[in-house]
Amino acid sequence: MEQQLNELKETVLLKIDEATSVKELNDVRIAYLGKKGPITDLLKGMGKLPADERPKMGALVNVSRETVTEVLERRMAILEQQAINEQLDKEKIDVTLPGRPALQGNHHPLTRVVEEIEDFFISMGYEVAEGPEVEKDYYNFEALNLPKGHPARDMQDSFYISEEVLLRTHTSPVQARTMEAKQGAPVKIICPGKVYRRDNDDATHSHQFTQIEGLVIGEDIRMSDLKGTLSLFAKKMFGSEREIRLRPSFFPFTEPSVEMDISCFKCGGDGCNVCKKTGWIEILGAGMVHPNVLSMAGYDPSVVSGFAFGMGPERIAMLKYGVEDIRHFYTNDIRFVSQFHRTEA
Ligand code: PHE
Repeated sequence: MEQQLNELKETVLLKIDEATSVKELNDVRIAYLGKKGPITDLLKGMGKLPADERPKMGALVNVSRETVTEVLERRMAILEQQAINEQLDKEKIDVTLPGRPALQGNHHPLTRVVEEIEDFFISMGYEVAEGPEVEKDYYNFEALNLPKGHPARDMQDSFYISEEVLLRTHTSPVQARTMEAKQGAPVKIICPGKVYRRDNDDATHSHQFTQIEGLVIGEDIRMSDLKGTLSLFAKKMFGSEREIRLRPSFFPFTEPSVEMDISCFKCGGDGCNVCKKTGWIEILGAGMVHPNVLSMAGYDPSVVSGFAFGMGPERIAMLKYGVEDIRHFYTNDIRFVSQFHRTEA
């Protein structure tokens, strides 16, 4: 039996030596040292030995098992380290590979145009005012000299929510609200915001779009103030060479009312496809605040006067950046919006 044990030990040691991977070595452990292995068999077989030989034999088996286990563990440690090294080698990162560029967020082109317009007027001493998009008929129409049944209400097809409430069709209700809140004090505001009209969407129309309204109220505010302000604005947005012209127009809340054109920034006035061969491009509507609007808001039209203007930042952005379809602003195709990313920090 002792010989059997020695042979077995030699075989196991040889197998341990031959194992070249953690898995192979584990197989050896299970095959020889496991519950069903030959060493366990040997221990079980000891019952057949004469009683006086059993302790000696038992001790021998235990010592052999300990030796084998120790050798196996040492070998296991080596093989494990080897496996780790191999894996590290395989997974080595090539630091010379170019990295994946991180996409950087940016302001939407429309937001940027709105901010550019705001910055100009803020630099002229205006404050930014806001109002609700779900608006009362009173502020959207009545307070702006558009009583119920007035034919000019049809100029702006509306989304009504109830008889008295609608989605605002322009940002002008903010001027009515601001004047009412100021209780006769001077006003100098711009009101940017979303507006809604029952239009069919196409390349130049959208049922939801953006407007910026401007309003100045005070003593001795004249048409020439409006003209000077808008002229500076046109130069700031479209280049210092720009001329403006005011054409008579109609808005129920201003009298007189005008539409403002700028000289074409592409051809300089000679006539091209941008200005449709006229040399002029229509930019906004404006006028002197109607006396009815002033008195409805609690001002005395014989003491104060004011001017107002309203424009569409989409139109300004489309002209400025050559965008051909207004819907690009709302679908947020990354290929479109990223064209306008600022490169500077
Ligand atoms: N609210 C007008 C519109 O939407 C624009 C405008 C504003 C005209 C202020 C004159 C003065 O058409």
